Amino acid sequence: MDLILRGATLPDGRTGIDIGIEKGRIATVEPTLQAAARQEIDATGLLVTPPFVDPHFHMDATLSLGFPRVNASGTLLEGIALWGELKPHLTAESIAERALAYCDWAVARGLLAIRTHVDVCDASLVAVEALLEVKKQVRPYLDLQLVAFPQDGVFRSPGALDNLKRALDLGVDVIGGIPHFERTMAEGADSVRALCEIAAERGLPVDMHCDESDDPMSRHVETLAYETQRLGLSGRVTGSHLTSMHSMDHYYVSKLIPLMAEAGLYVVANPLINIVIQGRHDTYPKRRGMTRVPELMKAGITVAFGHDCVMDPWYPLGSGDMLQVAHMGLHVAQMTGGDGMRACFQAVTENAAKVMGLEGYGLTPGCHADLVVLQAGDPIEAIRLQATRLYVIRRGEVIAETALAAARLNLPGRPKTTGHTNPWPKGVPESRTTRGG
Ligand code: FE2
Repeated sequence: MDLILRGATLPDGRTGIDIGIEKGRIATVEPTLQAAARQEIDATGLLVTPPFVDPHFHMDATLSLGFPRVNASGTLLEGIALWGELKPHLTAESIAERALAYCDWAVARGLLAIRTHVDVCDASLVAVEALLEVKKQVRPYLDLQLVAFPQDGVFRSPGALDNLKRALDLGVDVIGGIPHFERTMAEGADSVRALCEIAAERGLPVDMHCDESDDPMSRHVETLAYETQRLGLSGRVTGSHLTSMHSMDHYYVSKLIPLMAEAGLYVVANPLINIVIQGRHDTYPKRRGMTRVPELMKAGITVAFGHDCVMDPWYPLGSGDMLQVAHMGLHVAQMTGGDGMRACFQAVTENAAKVMGLEGYGLTPGCHADLVVLQAGDPIEAIRLQATRLYVIRRGEVIAETALAAARLNLPGRPKTTGHTNPWPKGVPESRTTRGG
């Protein structure tokens, strides 16, 4: 073997598992592996997971915070206006520099696959060309997927439809859209139809910013589900954001969710951004704005969480940490039961990989040997601590390491102690009668 991880705990709860790796792929996953390897990692009691996956990001805008100014109101519309001010100053070099810096952050946090939207409303397609180059450069260590995203509306923005098609000709992987930003509801629905038809013609996936508003009457996800079924696109169409579903009439939603499930639509919520951007026109109470994650999951729909933004015109924080995204997601969705928290971990790992259609993702023999060793005993503890990524492994090679997080306590009248600060180092059990132990 090239590498063996010993004694791992897996996301599904199995413990004491050895993972043998050969030629960049997982060769075996078993309790006691009788074999030697060039390198061994002692993962006893540590969570070992396939890498984090971000199915919704904006890499052309990331790390641009403050250029040319910050978003004072914090609204989506000021963010879009600010991005418009920034666009004329973008160069291929500056986009690539910021994107590559972000990819380094991502790798350090075990985030090894990102689907990024890239604005195609600028006829020069400078961001598309820069990110296609970045995609090539990072391929050895990170899977980058590009979505042709007409930020200002594929019909509303002159030339955007042609630009989008040219971006696809250049090799952009996925077709994007923003129907709620077109001039009318009817034109938004037309944009969904037209973009899905292009996807059917070209055999490409679709991932639309859809109904990203607090408008309870926004209905584009219904059209997206309909077009997905009409054109036979099931399993390759994603509705991103869907925040209007938060505000919709319950009776209507009781019809809508089964239609989405029937169409095989995927859903991406962006908890950090939804909680910050939505509800901005409310006084009090203020709506949370995130789509109905537990209800969608209950209907059997694959729901993933995206980061969406890091230090850009829409969001001033973030560090490429998908555990931070899962942490916010479970709070906003109130998914604090054990199953709910584990589902939020899946939303930033296996569900997100399914949305992106990643080949060879997982923890079974034959999958790519892409793994993250966390300083946590299980997925819930990983979210709670936003745990340190001790080792990040890509195709069987350790590509990032972080030292064990430990605190030293120098308390008066007590011996000095060193240890990590988790009070239950063995993870959180399903039930307990006394604290400790
Ligand atoms: Fe987005």
